Amino acid sequence: MTPKKILYGGDYNPEQWPEEVWEEDMRMFKLAHIDTVTVNVFSWASLQPSENVYDFTKLDKIMKMARDNGLNVCLATSTAVHPAWMARKYPDVLRTEHNGTRRKFGSRHNSCPNSPTYRKYSVALASKIAERYQDFDNIVAWHVSNEYSGNCYCENCEKAFRVWLKERYQTIEELNRVWNLAFWGHTMYDWDDVVVPNLQSEEWFWEYTRTNFQSISLDYQRFQSESILECYKLERDVLKAVTPQLPVTTNLMGFHKPLDYQMWAKEMDFVSWDNYPEWNAYPAQIAMCHDLMRGLKQGQAFWLMEQTPGVTNWHPYCSLKRPGVMRLWSYQAVAHGSDTVMFFQMRRSVGACEKYHSAVIEHVGNENTRVFREITALGEELDRLGGKTLGAKAKAKVAIVFDWDNWWAAEYSAGPSKLINYHQEVTQYYRSLAEANIPVDIIGVTDDLNGYDLVIAPLLYMCKDGFDEKIRGFVKAGGSFVTTYFSGYVEDHDLVVLGGYPARLRDILGIWVEETDAIVEGQSNHFIYEGERHSATILCDLLHLEGAEALSTYEDDFYAGMPVLTKNKFGSGTAYYVATRSDKAFYDKFLLELCKEKGIEAVMTAPDGIEATLRENENGQFVFILNHNDEATEIEIPYNGKNLLNGAEYKAGEMLMLASKDVMIIEVAGEK
Ligand code: GLA
Ligand code: ZN
Repeated sequence: MTPKKILYGGDYNPEQWPEEVWEEDMRMFKLAHIDTVTVNVFSWASLQPSENVYDFTKLDKIMKMARDNGLNVCLATSTAVHPAWMARKYPDVLRTEHNGTRRKFGSRHNSCPNSPTYRKYSVALASKIAERYQDFDNIVAWHVSNEYSGNCYCENCEKAFRVWLKERYQTIEELNRVWNLAFWGHTMYDWDDVVVPNLQSEEWFWEYTRTNFQSISLDYQRFQSESILECYKLERDVLKAVTPQLPVTTNLMGFHKPLDYQMWAKEMDFVSWDNYPEWNAYPAQIAMCHDLMRGLKQGQAFWLMEQTPGVTNWHPYCSLKRPGVMRLWSYQAVAHGSDTVMFFQMRRSVGACEKYHSAVIEHVGNENTRVFREITALGEELDRLGGKTLGAKAKAKVAIVFDWDNWWAAEYSAGPSKLINYHQEVTQYYRSLAEANIPVDIIGVTDDLNGYDLVIAPLLYMCKDGFDEKIRGFVKAGGSFVTTYFSGYVEDHDLVVLGGYPARLRDILGIWVEETDAIVEGQSNHFIYEGERHSATILCDLLHLEGAEALSTYEDDFYAGMPVLTKNKFGSGTAYYVATRSDKAFYDKFLLELCKEKGIEAVMTAPDGIEATLRENENGQFVFILNHNDEATEIEIPYNGKNLLNGAEYKAGEMLMLASKDVMIIEVAGEK
């Protein structure tokens, strides 16, 4: 079934409630214009009460109720928590922690991904569910497991790790080479010498996880991400075998470090994700997650699978979403590429850790709540909006590179600073562009660079085989490229590329980095850029020009006068190097300058706190304008067109007061 509007609903757990309550749920859902429920997320224990017994009685009723009430179903496979009997009978399903302790039954997302028992029974369950409900034409998608996450260090994982390594490296000599095991006499003679890197072997905890052998830890992270992905694929394959027409997804979590989502997305029909910003999140921070999620499948529309309608239970401070913010953040998701607006959860549970997490139906049990009124108003509005924006894509001329291997490797690095933080570095660049309403794609190193005018790869510590060649081609052909300190150091195995940093990027950037100074937290060096003084923090590279020109130099310390910002003409393009972490004012100015140079335009020019994006499809072009400010803000309408949310027509250049937290979706008249 192809949806005709933005799907509206969320996680629904009727199995936690007596059946009398269900009827009331249906009444409330209708009131709120809910059209979609995600069911069966955590029901394995009741679906398979013992090894050879399956019981679908309750799920049958739930599925029938959903269909009878005209609800679409996103049907989950329930494999995110194994049942207690399984843990008792087959302890191999239990994970082993980083410190080597075997866990007991409890929590969730708790199964060892390499447990033969878990794989066997999760796949069996998914297959039975697919067989049983395949004829329900209201199923819109399969939802495999839930928020996959976490590492396991058990013996099954250790054995599987050896197999994984053997496939990858073939010989023990090659393993010794790529892990540089001559260091500290770690030479391995046999695959059985390989053990998992954890607190019992190479890793230790000191503020965060450290490791003696980055290469081993890095490979283990890759292996765990792939092991969990394998569990997803096994379920997906049995679902596809029964219902090839239905799309399969699993809900992701934005910038979630343990899983290489770029690899994962290749196995998913569409990306879906759960958005839970904290009270102090700023708009670009949320937007960056949406853009990452959109980029995972090269711009294909995604699903906002979960958000809280009001409040979470698990943030340090569970502040309420202010009036209008739920609507605003729902449209922000749509503005960045979502085709759904979904909540966790439909009815607030009575016990356990999520009982104080907002729901469409709160503990008071009726419709007379602020949260329910806001949900209903948005539901009505989405009904009116219909399906015009579905599948629409956002077009960007700027790409920011984000790479999971690089994330792991850069932050495993022993030195030069504990302040190295990949996500934070990328955020500096993203934020300045996003706040200027310049569309940005977040792409991976395997994505195409063609079509972009500006490619930014902050903190590209690991420049993988072939990626430098891609950048070289891009710049030669006229593109602008920006990278930063601590880039180009290592190849895919975290082995240093010899011959001077930034190694593979050296010719493109026209520089040689001889040394790097770590700046203590709270201290800084400085430099002047276009008449303003900016800070240089975290790391300061001491570099020499090899063809590049210096746009600015350090002011302080023994390396005062050495270049801190460089520009190199390379082929028909230009490559910039930012040798340090600076301040927001610098990125704002520097990046907007580069955009201007390349003729890259903002969706609209607007006061702070006004976010604008553009999506387009065969129905037209849609400009989303969102006011994140706490007060009404005056904006200049950027295009002729109609606001799809209230039917008002506008002419470009008209001034308008956009209310606090309000949203417009302008359908552009003609071509913009
Ligand atoms: C996640 C999970 C849900 C629920 C919510 C609470 O997104 O997928 O099951 O726990 O968090 O915010
Ligand atoms: Zn394991």
